[in-house]
Amino acid sequence: MTQGSKRKRLRSQEWFDNPGNPDMTALYLERYLNYGLTRGELQSGKPLIGIAQTGSDLSPCNRHHIELAKRVRAGIEAAGGIPFEFPCHPIQETGKRPTASLDRNLTYMALVEVLYGYPLDGVVLTIGCDKTTPALLMAAATVDIPAIAFSVGPMLNGWHEGRRVGSGTIVWEARERLATGEIDYEQFMELAAASAPSVGFCNTMGTASTMNSLAEALGMQLPGSAAIPAPYRERGQMAYETGRRIVEMVHEDIKPSDIMTREAFENAIVVNSAIGGSTNAPIHLNAIARHLGVPLDNDDWQRIGHHIPLLVNLQPAGEYLGEDYHRAGGVPAVISELLKAGLLPHPDAMTVNGRTVRENCQNAVTVDANVIRPVSNPLKKDAGFINLKGNLFDSAIMKTSVISEEFRTRYLSDPDDPEAFEGRAVVFDGPEDFHHRIDDPALAIDEHCILVMRGAGPIGYPGAAEVVNMRPPSYLIKKGVHSLPCIGDGRQSGTSASPSILNASPEAAAGGGLALLKTGDRIRIDLKKGSADMLVSEEELEKRRAALEEAGGYPYPGHQTPWQEIQRSMVDQLAEGMVLRPAVAYRRIARE
Ligand code: FES
Ligand code: MG
Repeated sequence: MTQGSKRKRLRSQEWFDNPGNPDMTALYLERYLNYGLTRGELQSGKPLIGIAQTGSDLSPCNRHHIELAKRVRAGIEAAGGIPFEFPCHPIQETGKRPTASLDRNLTYMALVEVLYGYPLDGVVLTIGCDKTTPALLMAAATVDIPAIAFSVGPMLNGWHEGRRVGSGTIVWEARERLATGEIDYEQFMELAAASAPSVGFCNTMGTASTMNSLAEALGMQLPGSAAIPAPYRERGQMAYETGRRIVEMVHEDIKPSDIMTREAFENAIVVNSAIGGSTNAPIHLNAIARHLGVPLDNDDWQRIGHHIPLLVNLQPAGEYLGEDYHRAGGVPAVISELLKAGLLPHPDAMTVNGRTVRENCQNAVTVDANVIRPVSNPLKKDAGFINLKGNLFDSAIMKTSVISEEFRTRYLSDPDDPEAFEGRAVVFDGPEDFHHRIDDPALAIDEHCILVMRGAGPIGYPGAAEVVNMRPPSYLIKKGVHSLPCIGDGRQSGTSASPSILNASPEAAAGGGLALLKTGDRIRIDLKKGSADMLVSEEELEKRRAALEEAGGYPYPGHQTPWQEIQRSMVDQLAEGMVLRPAVAYRRIARE
């Protein structure tokens, strides 16, 4: 827009430049002058741009945003805006107890309140560590002022004794070696530390790299932004460009609801399969969609995403790490490969830079075809999720592409029924119960058992713990059994490569079928039919249901904090995005 042309009145002018209400204008204005802003600036009609700061000493994955925000501010000012940086409630995936996901909705709510209640015309969402990305996108969806996401970027690659060691993934491997006595406590700690060599978030394709890539695939980040490692110079340059662009977006009035359409979500589901994205992605994308009023469920994930091949060769599914992903071309290269093969469903979806996904990505070049494979030479086919249903739950997802050869040989090699298996259930009530009893010989766990974790959902845990991928007892690992089938109403870390059946909804604590299961029951999983059932008669299930009701329902621990109680009273299940039910009714609230 040319200088001096007639611009539409900005939202912030209702606060700071409203001659019709001098009392309130004075009150709103004067305190913002006290650190040096001038009245001229605040009444000049320049867009006021929030920088939703998720970095802090408590959130090391996002902490580098404190530095990067300086470049974001420079970009905002260069484009004629005024930056207002403010803190978000911290969410550190590895630091918050009982689990960081308890806080996703808290950060969401707090940010909604800030974006609605303060004179902001647009906002830069500083994303990174797992739950920060969905929390901020959910809030932007609810308020619907112009918003652009900006990733902090992954850490540099971790190295140990000449090989790449990736965030989380190395811990899953090392804890198995610790359990068998192959390494000691010191060596365990050394391996874990080697995987975290710099500022930034997890360098594997865990939930953070997944959600940052999907924020770009949705169109909410500038192209190429998701994968740049945190310490690289391009990261600071992207910060500057992001700051510049949000000011233009305010003038162009491009809002989250213009970008995050049903088409954009379908694109993101396809990209999630191609990158080998985390099983947390459906929870978070379904949540963002619900806050926008876009219909999206786990059947969509299977239908749109399951047949898409895995192209990105990153741990835990592959070999490489974040730096390699960026050098190979990042998200634009992945989308370019999908476009070439005709697999991206909506190339004309709009993005924050005002151009379509196709325009942004069609000329992107894959620099290393071993890190980002072409569709003609994928790492795996059918890399998406399947959505299982039955008398255990209404919905639970499984990433079939991570089923190992060992697992396939043991469970999926019956020539008459190659996609189905049965096993004896061994039931654990929460992660503490699992840790206490997994090595107990009295459970007589063998390779024909299915481990079940319940009491780990949004209400049971609370917040839904990442505990469904359970290791076998040490005596089985020593015998060479590295994984058993796992089912649960909790989640699983995106850095784990287990083929668990997880995010089961409804959870035991919400009256789901898992609450009726007993150790010793047989479970049958049929991947072809998409079914998961306990082989228990309806009559017996009725009896168990009556007994459970009599006892007051499936028990879970008491609330430790006020937020736990508040969230438990109104939270939805994982398949529905684990959103706060009353919050979904509030849409586009800055526009009313
Ligand atoms: Fe923060 Fe993985 S722990 S990104
Ligand atoms: Mg996680």
